[in-house]
Amino acid sequence: MNIVLGVGGGIAAYKSAELVRLLIERGHSVQVVMTAGAQEFVRPLTFAALTGRKVVTALFSTNSESTLSSAIEHIGVAQENDLLVVSPATADLLAKFAHGLAEDFLTTMYLAFTGPVVLAPAMNSNMWLHAATQSNLDTLRRRGHRIVDPEEGQLACGMVGPGRLAAPEEIAKAVDAEIGRRRDLDGETVLITAGPTQEPLDPVRYISNRSSGKMGTRWPKRRRRAAPRSCSFPDRCTLRRRAAARSSRYTPRARCATRCSKICNRPVSSSRRRPSRISICRRCPRRR
Ligand SMILES: Cc1cc2nc3c(=O)[nH]c(=O)nc-3n(C[C@H](O)[C@H](O)[C@H](O)COP(=O)(O)O)c2cc1C
Repeated sequence: MNIVLGVGGGIAAYKSAELVRLLIERGHSVQVVMTAGAQEFVRPLTFAALTGRKVVTALFSTNSESTLSSAIEHIGVAQENDLLVVSPATADLLAKFAHGLAEDFLTTMYLAFTGPVVLAPAMNSNMWLHAATQSNLDTLRRRGHRIVDPEEGQLACGMVGPGRLAAPEEIAKAVDAEIGRRRDLDGETVLITAGPTQEPLDPVRYISNRSSGKMGTRWPKRRRRAAPRSCSFPDRCTLRRRAAARSSRYTPRARCATRCSKICNRPVSSSRRRPSRISICRRCPRRR
């Protein structure tokens, strides 16, 4: 999986080097993006050496030979990667993410990014407990981002309390959990139906809809993390074409030789009375 690691300007920035190692160990490809603040704490070279890739450090290229791709790199990074993890996520980054500010590469890329987001905040206890930070965290949680809460303990500033960056292993586990959540169809065999249905009005007339079937064919692509094996009809199954939603009782059906009969169907109904549904066969030998 392609992961972007955003590193914020906190004292714990150096711990992200260990996080990079853990992510690479798990087989991920890691692209590091550092804020200007982060570069005050750790040099980009550290991450470049660990990942073997250029570290993104600025939104605007200082290179006079800017190309279109370097100019819109933030969009490219957002599109090419599957998950964004930010460690340490500073109070400043949390506020910018929550409010949609886009003033540097990381915050701009965040807005262009559509995949899952894992945030590992770290800061002084008072900063962490401040109503503004907690309100920003609420916003980000409601947005569906996974927050890896900081630990309690002795902080770099001398205070004792919450705010210490979670252990890199915990952050890597949160990344695993987030990936697992998105790969919930791994190993499953799913049959998707697509296209219009026809509802007979009488023996010669029917009502239908203009469904192109594109949605159904896009679905396995959207779920590409679920590793679809094929979009074609599997062998050892019998396809029964059902034109009418009503006559088919809304169950276009693929029946495996092993009596496996569960299906996934998601057609657009010309009659809205019957709900679409998805079901996955757990017995089918093909899912293994
Ligand atoms: C020595 C030092 C340590 C800091 N540690 C933290 C920290 O752990 N967490 C935090 O949110 N801000 C911390 N800050 C403040 C941030 O560096 C500052 O808010 C900065 O603007 C963050 O930039 P960024 O969010 O773009 O990385 C620290 C500042 C200094 C000078």
